[in-house]
Amino acid sequence: MIGRILLADDALHIRTIFSKILTNAGHFVKAIDNGDDFFQSVLDLKPDLAIVDLHMPGRELAENMALLRGCAKTKELPVIVITGSDDENELSEVLEAGATDVMLKPPNLNQLLNRVGAYIANARVQAMEQQLERERDSLFLTIARLADCREGDGAFQADRVLHCTELLCRSYEERIAPLPQLREICLAGTLYDVGKVAIPSSIVLKPGALNAQERELMETHCAAGAESLALGAESGLDSDVMELAVGIAESHHERWDGTGYPRGLKGPEIPLAARLISVVGVYDALTSERPYRKALSHEQAQKIILEGKGSQFDPEVVSAFETVAHRFPEIRQRFPH
Ligand SMILES: [Fe+2]
Repeated sequence: MIGRILLADDALHIRTIFSKILTNAGHFVKAIDNGDDFFQSVLDLKPDLAIVDLHMPGRELAENMALLRGCAKTKELPVIVITGSDDENELSEVLEAGATDVMLKPPNLNQLLNRVGAYIANARVQAMEQQLERERDSLFLTIARLADCREGDGAFQADRVLHCTELLCRSYEERIAPLPQLREICLAGTLYDVGKVAIPSSIVLKPGALNAQERELMETHCAAGAESLALGAESGLDSDVMELAVGIAESHHERWDGTGYPRGLKGPEIPLAARLISVVGVYDALTSERPYRKALSHEQAQKIILEGKGSQFDPEVVSAFETVAHRFPEIRQRFPH
C-alpha cells in the first residue's frame, strides 16, 4: 500500500538511499535531518508512517515520542526507529518510549519495504474503523435526538443520557465490575425511549395523569422500541450496539424487585445495560419539565433514586450513582432544555 512517509535521519546517505527506495516503491517521502523539526513535520505532513534515526541533533527521540503520543492527532502514528546499536537495553527503551518498531542499520531493504507497507495498510484500516465508529455514533445520536424532540427535551436529552451514562458506567467499573461494552452501552442507552415515537402525542404530552387505558398504551413503548431496533439490527446496523439497544428499550421500566413492566423481570434477569440506563433515564425524566409537572431539583431526583435502591433499582448501580450523581447537574448545564 502506498503512503506518505516522514523520514528523519541526520546522515545524508541514509536519507538519500531510503528516499530513493521508498519513492521508487510509490511512496511520497519527506526527509528531515534533525529532531527539532520532527514533531512539527508530523503535524504538517500528516504522514502514514515515520522512520526515525535513534540519535539525531536537536530534540531527542524520547521527547519527540512523548510529544507524538500525547497529541490526539498523532498518538496513533506508527514509528519505525532505525539504529546502528544492537544494545538490548537501548532497544527496549526505544519501544518503551512509544516507538512501534526498531530496525538495525543497515536494514534489509526488502524487509524495510514489507514493514512499511504493512504499517501503512494497518494505519489505513485503523483510520477507516475510527471513521466508521464516528459515523455510527453520529447516526445513533441523530436518531435519538430526533426521537426526543416531541417531548420538549429539544435536541439535548440524548446528549445528557450519553454523558450521564458514561459517568455512571465508569463509576460502576471502579466500584463493582468491568464493563467491556461501556461505549456501546452509552450509545445504545440514548435510544432507550425511542418507542415513544409510536405513542400518540395526546398521550405522551397529556398535561395530567393518564387513565388506565392510556397507561396501558403508553407501556407499549418498550415493545415498540425493541421491535424497531431489532429490525435495525437485522438490517445490518452495528450489531453490538443494536443488541444492547433492544434490551435497554425493552427492559428499562423493569424493576429490581420484579414489579416493573413489560415482563416483570426481577434482579439480574434484567439486562445490566437496562439497569444502568433505568437510573439515568429516571434521573433525567425527573429533572426535566413535563406537561403535567415542573422539573424536580437535582437533590429531589437524587433522593428518589436512593430511596429506590434495592426496590426499583439495582443496588450496585445505585451505589455507583451515589459517587457520581453530584456531577450530573453540570451535564444538564452543558446540555439544557
Ligand atoms: Fe420509557
